[in-house]
Amino acid sequence: MLIVEHLAKSYGAKQAVIDVSLSVGAGEVVGLLGPNGAGKSTTVAMICGLVAPDSGRVLIDGKPIVDDDSPVKRRIGLVPQDISLFEDFGARGNLELFGALYGIKGSLLKQRVDAALELVGLTERARDKPSSYSGGMKRRLNIAAALIHDPDLLILDEPTVGIDPQSRNAIFDNLEALAASGKAIVYTTHYMEEVERLADRIVIVDHGRVVASDTPAVLKRALGNTGVVVLEIDGTVDVAALLLESGVTRAEQREETLTLGIADLGASLPYVLTWLAARGHAVRRITSSQANLEDVFLSLTGRQLRD
Ligand SMILES: Nc1ncnc2c1ncn2[C@@H]1O[C@H](COP(=O)(O)OP(=O)(O)OP(=O)(O)O)[C@@H](O)[C@H]1O
Ligand SMILES: [Mg+2]
Repeated sequence: MLIVEHLAKSYGAKQAVIDVSLSVGAGEVVGLLGPNGAGKSTTVAMICGLVAPDSGRVLIDGKPIVDDDSPVKRRIGLVPQDISLFEDFGARGNLELFGALYGIKGSLLKQRVDAALELVGLTERARDKPSSYSGGMKRRLNIAAALIHDPDLLILDEPTVGIDPQSRNAIFDNLEALAASGKAIVYTTHYMEEVERLADRIVIVDHGRVVASDTPAVLKRALGNTGVVVLEIDGTVDVAALLLESGVTRAEQREETLTLGIADLGASLPYVLTWLAARGHAVRRITSSQANLEDVFLSLTGRQLRD
């Protein structure tokens, strides 16, 4: 449904997107993940034909977007990162307007508007204007607006920022239902647990490039950190030496908590414990868990804050 090949886009000297490729099939959810400034929204804008790429191409169901009138544009539903609603209309009025822009009329329009309001739980507030909404309610209306023309490709750019767990869960259920009905979905977020639940495949971007692209399970395995061990210990550990001398792939100490990524728990953990004991660090508590996608994300993109 969507093929993105080697997209690149610079703003002056700033290379926002350097090389991003991805594909999404019908019925598939692809998570587009990356830290602030990674190039996610710029990629989304190029997919939707809102920003012209410097190079690379986008095909939607095999066809490029040539201009604003390209028919394939109608097959895209975009939930933009910045909420875009008409403040002077109520929720229903907003959705009717978005529908009318796509030439939907009459009973079909009413049916779509009712379904979209229901989907995001705003039926009771349909007459109220967005200015009287909470931040989360505006977000939900923003999502509904993208669905009114029944797009085959749905692109959501951080759609759940500020949404409470109840609404988020309801939206996820609905996205899963939309995917099951054959929609292709691109879901942009920083939240690992969201892609872990939703995505069939994950594309991680950083500094304008794809740094990983695979299923959640393969990404977790590829990390090598099959285990994450958290130890409560005495003293300050020489983390650099520990990394150098043991089978540890990641080590961080924050106060009395030492977090380690260990590729092979059985082989390495006894050595690590002996190593710590030999340097006078008493271990008071130890817990281990499987690497999660947060570990994958941080190991690929680092811990440095972004712009
Ligand atoms: N219109 C623009 N003019 C100049 N620079 C831009 C413009 N749009 C984006 N950038 C820059 O391009 C880079 C990528 O921005 P983009 O918005 O695509 O990131 P993002 O991954 O969506 O980040 P976030 O998670 O914060 O939304 C950033 O460094 C940003 O400052
Ligand atoms: Mg963005």
